[in-house]
Amino acid sequence: MLIAQISDLHICQKGDLAYGVSETNLFAERAIHALMRLNPVPDCVVVTGDLAENGYDEEYAIASELLGRLSCPVYVIPGNHDRREPLRRAFESRGYLPPMGPLNYSISCGELQLIALDSLEEGTGIGVLTDETLDFLSSALSEAKDRATLVMLHHPPFVTGIGHMDVVRLVDGAQRLESIISAHPQVQRVLCGHVHRSIQQIFAGTLCQVAPSVAHQVTLDLRPEAPSCFMLEPPGYLLHILQGGKIVTHTAQVDRAAGPFSFNLPETYTSRAVVHRSSGS
Ligand SMILES: [Fe+2]
Repeated sequence: MLIAQISDLHICQKGDLAYGVSETNLFAERAIHALMRLNPVPDCVVVTGDLAENGYDEEYAIASELLGRLSCPVYVIPGNHDRREPLRRAFESRGYLPPMGPLNYSISCGELQLIALDSLEEGTGIGVLTDETLDFLSSALSEAKDRATLVMLHHPPFVTGIGHMDVVRLVDGAQRLESIISAHPQVQRVLCGHVHRSIQQIFAGTLCQVAPSVAHQVTLDLRPEAPSCFMLEPPGYLLHILQGGKIVTHTAQVDRAAGPFSFNLPETYTSRAVVHRSSGS
């Protein structure tokens, strides 16, 4: 199974740029084209929040149209830039979002269970997992004990070292999240966005991964007093492959690079590898 994770699209109203600089609508379109070029085609695409820059209906209409170009199922969660009700309205016809309350859901996708958690505290940048959301997680995990599971939330539950982003981290619920996930070894990944960089930490006995943004990236500046800035570094996304009950993750770039170019290796280069594989060493 192949799962593509894109994050932090920050789609604006037509003609607007995010922060006056970032052409997020164009970036989002490029990301969709990159996913459409994938071979094999992903079994599903997950979007880990910040679909919209301001939470306007027009922004979600653009997001919905772009994501609707993909032939596989697409599952979204809210980020701190999103607004719960406009997002729900735009995606309710897809049938997986609850009709009211936090945008939590648990859904089967092939051999995989996807559990989405709503960490949005509207009008702020911080993340919050309420008791209602954490109770939902606990029940969903208990109901899918034997299935490889991805848990998704926008705000990473750990400190990244980028000070101005850590200020708007998951401030409530991280400790209980850790204890719930620790008790459920079927969780293969905790998938986040928010920080606009590729970042990992072992969390609750599993791997927590922050996806880069498909638009602008947060500046990699680890000084405590680092200003809040972003860069137009190459946008990226994550590809998670589930095979044999385990997940391996690749970081991919949205933009096409020159190549591929053949290594033109002699046959002897790989023949010894084949012998190693067949002898089990
Ligand atoms: Fe974002």
